[in-house]
Amino acid sequence: MSSPGKATVTFDDGTATVELPILKGSVGPDVIDIRKLYPQTGKFTYDPGFLSTASCNSTITYIDGDKGELLYRGYPIEQLAVQCDFLEVCHLILYGELPNAAQKSEFNERVTRHTMVHEQMQFFLRGFRRDAHPMAVMTGLVGALSAFYPDSMNVNDAKQRDISAIRLIAKMPTLVAMAYKYTVGQPFMYPRNELSYTGNFMHMMFATPCEDYKVNDVLVRALDRIFILHADHEQNASTSTVRLCASSGTNPFAAIAAGVACLWGPAHGGANEACLTMLGEIQAMGGMAKIGEFITRVKDKNSTVRLMGFGHRVYKNYDPRAKLMRETCHEVLNALGLQDDPLFELAMGLEKIALEDDYFVQRKLYPNVDFYSGIVQKAIGIPVSLFTAIFALARTVGWVAQLNEMIADPEYKIGRPRQLFVGSPRRDVKPLAARA
Ligand code: SDX
Repeated sequence: MSSPGKATVTFDDGTATVELPILKGSVGPDVIDIRKLYPQTGKFTYDPGFLSTASCNSTITYIDGDKGELLYRGYPIEQLAVQCDFLEVCHLILYGELPNAAQKSEFNERVTRHTMVHEQMQFFLRGFRRDAHPMAVMTGLVGALSAFYPDSMNVNDAKQRDISAIRLIAKMPTLVAMAYKYTVGQPFMYPRNELSYTGNFMHMMFATPCEDYKVNDVLVRALDRIFILHADHEQNASTSTVRLCASSGTNPFAAIAAGVACLWGPAHGGANEACLTMLGEIQAMGGMAKIGEFITRVKDKNSTVRLMGFGHRVYKNYDPRAKLMRETCHEVLNALGLQDDPLFELAMGLEKIALEDDYFVQRKLYPNVDFYSGIVQKAIGIPVSLFTAIFALARTVGWVAQLNEMIADPEYKIGRPRQLFVGSPRRDVKPLAARA
């Protein structure tokens, strides 16, 4: 980070002019360092939703929204999704480099050895109704992990941060599979150490004690790629939640539970579930013939209907993950003989119309990662209600890497934003009898 210059802010209310350093990163927009602004002027900046605010410096993920570029530690997502598996990408995101063969084997072994959860964890599920939303279950289960690992609760100890990261990456598939098995009334399946990370997840999801289950390598590869595409994404809402939560010094499990809760929202990680629900609604309306009518509703200022899976705070071009997800969709549907899947046809029809419609073009609304991911997951056999839990499984490595980066930053302090107060100035309490 270098300082290429300064910004001079002058005021028309008599406040003294202030000079603020401009900081330059390795790539991407410069930032104005406003840390001296309040002490020197008594004024805050104001940026609801943080559209123009950099909350931190980071070396993990870079996004160029205009170019539609996504890099994990400098590597393009298009190369990682094709040339690596998810655990290699986890190693990259956590430690900054892709593993060599020996490091890959050692990392995989470490993760494999932590895939089981404490036997007591299963009893938490019994408190939920069988039809509880998996994200409600996951918010509870991930938070509950805080009660089981006293040796890795101190977020200020680098070794404890590292073992917590491994435990969380390793145990998320087990917990997601348990949340699923609970809803379908089947027994939980223990992890199988001879299987790959994603093969093990598929086994825990779809195997039963009654017979051997052979994982389908095409589906495993597709799901592994979905994990890679969702692994990290700069300072999105849930990652910022994890950073703010961990900044108080709370343990990593509690901070990740906060990230799970934030991701659940339909504007964020809940969009893939909402997108598939939307496609189902259009299908019920009459399918392709009704796309125009649906788009009209989306464009109607008075309607709250949004084209789920479209638009992004940062990407004002095609989300590179959506392109890769669409390719994966083709591969999976062809492998399963579902190439005529009506929902996929509908999604491509919707995408084509939206990309030509002025409303979307003007607002630079393109398909995002969630637009196709639901169709792929549904084809793999994952229930719609579990889509966001799968997103949380994949994003856990990004969350823990960003948490660890923040804590290791010598400049880090507890996050504590201020406000523009627009409420009542000081007034005195009237006795009850005197109140109107
Ligand atoms: C993820 O931040 C991340 O990195 C997130 C994520 C990650 O990997 O962590 O990429 C994952 O969350 C992807 C986004 C998933 N969400 C959706 O698909 C839900 C639908 N999309 C939106 O609700 C919306 O696009 C957001 C929330 C994603 C972004 O919203 P912004 O940046 O706050 O933009 P906005 O809501 O101010 O929209 C700008 C304009 C508005 O119209 P006008 O007021 O200018 O007339 O575009 C319109 C919006 O109404 N608009 C949409 C729309 N998205 C924005 N109109 C119809 N359909 C949409 N999907």
